[in-house]
Amino acid sequence: MEIVHIVGARPQFIKAAPVVRALQRRGAGQLLVHTGQHYDREMSEVFFKELDLPEPDLNLEVGSGTHGVQTARMLERIEAALLKRRPDWVVVYGDTNSTLAGALAACKLGLGVAHIESGLRSYNRSMPEEHNRVLADHCADLLLCPTQTAVDNLRREGVRARIELVGDTMYDAILSFLPRARKPAFADKLKLKPQAYLLATIHRPYNTDNPEALIALVDALSAAGEPVVFPTHPRTRARLTEFAPDFASRASTIYFVPPVGYLEMLWLERNARLILTDSGGVQKEAYFLARPCVTLRPETEWVETVQAGWNRLARGKDEILQAVAGDSWPTGSPPPLFGDGRAADRIAEALSKVPKA
Ligand code: UD1
Ligand code: UDP
Repeated sequence: MEIVHIVGARPQFIKAAPVVRALQRRGAGQLLVHTGQHYDREMSEVFFKELDLPEPDLNLEVGSGTHGVQTARMLERIEAALLKRRPDWVVVYGDTNSTLAGALAACKLGLGVAHIESGLRSYNRSMPEEHNRVLADHCADLLLCPTQTAVDNLRREGVRARIELVGDTMYDAILSFLPRARKPAFADKLKLKPQAYLLATIHRPYNTDNPEALIALVDALSAAGEPVVFPTHPRTRARLTEFAPDFASRASTIYFVPPVGYLEMLWLERNARLILTDSGGVQKEAYFLARPCVTLRPETEWVETVQAGWNRLARGKDEILQAVAGDSWPTGSPPPLFGDGRAADRIAEALSKVPKA
């Protein structure tokens, strides 16, 4: 069996790591293709090192660009790579432009497409991720869903291809890597005390690309009255520098640090009193680690975490501050909604039935 994985953005390295390992155990032929969507060391290379992922076999070096340019470059280069290899499966992850380009290139060549983290929906069509995931799902031959909600979403859309509920590979990853969680060097310098700081990440265009929205978020974090560790995505740093060049000095309780590696992020998440984020992956990790999460979005794909009471949606300063100050968060262990930590094994099993056999 021959498998080509298409990855390109930070969360995809994390989602792919357990799958690559499960397939290695089965002796499958694998080719890891990095589109080059993320390229800074701290957005890419660090994850390959920390997650024991093999170096990419191929880096397509597409870099940044508008959606059309970036996706088109990927499509052209992925097609050329697939034509050389003609694998049984092309595996795509999540909902980025790399996901869409991989699914589309493979589907047009008549190759089997497997979509991991299939079936997620925000029903917010202004999000680039929503286009990517809907289109990838409708290209795919094998839809590998993390939750029952995702399966139900696909059934409602009348998807006819093979759908399997496998669990979430980010849950597999956290179970493997949490014992290696590592305190960042800046933690002592900042005198971070467990359960006495907030952790924030923001990178969605509707939060970062509008000056009013971004400045309002920073003001809300500043007004929380607690130290905030803010690993800053390059998109967000660029927008902050553009809209409020004095952002770091204006918000003295917010520590804008560069993006951290996965092991340091796990340490920061586990020890935070509360997490504020617009990230999909970080919402889930907050849930896995039983940390209260405030999602800085009008909606979320991970509705189960909200229903379970561990995640609250908040937009606007008042809502955010209310959620941060709130003390009615659940306690104990959240119900296991994302599988049993063996999603990657189930995926490897599902891939052993090749599509065109
Ligand atoms: C992308 C995904 C998003 C995902 C996120 C994970 C799309 C449409 N969006 O968003 O779904 O949640 O990755 O982090 O695929 N940049 C750098 N260095 C890098 C990468 C990016 O400086 O290594 C800067 C560039 O200025 C670039 C901007 O960040 O234009 C945005 O990068 P891009 O990959 O287009 O989108 P993300 O916001 O990272
Ligand atoms: N992450 C990380 N360092 C950071 C920020 C995030 O390792 O500075 C990890 C985080 O733990 C999670 C993943 O990146 O596993 C989430 O990726 P991101 O927020 O970029 O994208 P999304 O999940 O929203 O697509």
